[in-house]
Amino acid sequence: KYTNLDDGLYISILGQVFDVTKGAKFYGPGATYHAFTGCDASLAFITGEFHSKGLTDDISSLSFEQIKMLDSWVQFYNKNYIYKGKLNGRYYNEHGLPTEEFHNVQRILRQAKEEQFQDEHKKKMFPPCNIEWKPDSGTVVWCTKKSGGIERDWIGVPRMLFASPNSKEYRCACVNLDSREYHDMKGMIREYLQCPKTSVKCAVTEIL
Ligand code: HEM
Repeated sequence: KYTNLDDGLYISILGQVFDVTKGAKFYGPGATYHAFTGCDASLAFITGEFHSKGLTDDISSLSFEQIKMLDSWVQFYNKNYIYKGKLNGRYYNEHGLPTEEFHNVQRILRQAKEEQFQDEHKKKMFPPCNIEWKPDSGTVVWCTKKSGGIERDWIGVPRMLFASPNSKEYRCACVNLDSREYHDMKGMIREYLQCPKTSVKCAVTEIL
């Protein structure tokens, strides 16, 4: 019913319905995103397939990252359009209660947010070093109170921070030797060879 300007233009995403009539230039009949109206085409928000097969609410083919992107569309509609209610279907039952499938998506999103929080915390506790390469002196890494774009009240010392205890991959991190995080992560942190333990600047002799 809600695919025209008389009744209004509604779209549904992950079972949440929004009135997008004010965006008629995008969603109105004949406009680029008209296919989103009158149905839940959650998958198409990620795939960009605005035709029959793509217009489905089944997002089981999406990756973790893509589900996060879909959630930003939900936030976009909450911010910019009018929330109308829930669609009885894959994500909400006839009583408006979330289905198992809805909970699954929420679980993935909670996990994604937790991971993002951990990543941000790690970046704050182990900010990237400044790095400079010159043909005559080679690579030098050093720490400042602003290195890696992370402002803090400590400087830290350059260390090799490995992705995991037996990984070969690492990056240069400024490490606060007094922090609890340093002690917790010691298994993944190594000093640069021939660099004094407390020096804030190291010439890199390791082969990258
Ligand atoms: C997965 C693919 C895509 C999806 C799901 C998508 C979805 C959308 C939606 C829903 C809107 C309307 C936003 C609103 O309500 O304000 C929009 C706007 C727009 N999209 Fe896309 N889009 C996609 C790809 C693209 C591509 C590839 C281009 C460019 C080549 C593009 C260009 C635009 C432009 C120019 C606007 C209007 C922005 C404005 O005037 O504010 N989109 N898109």
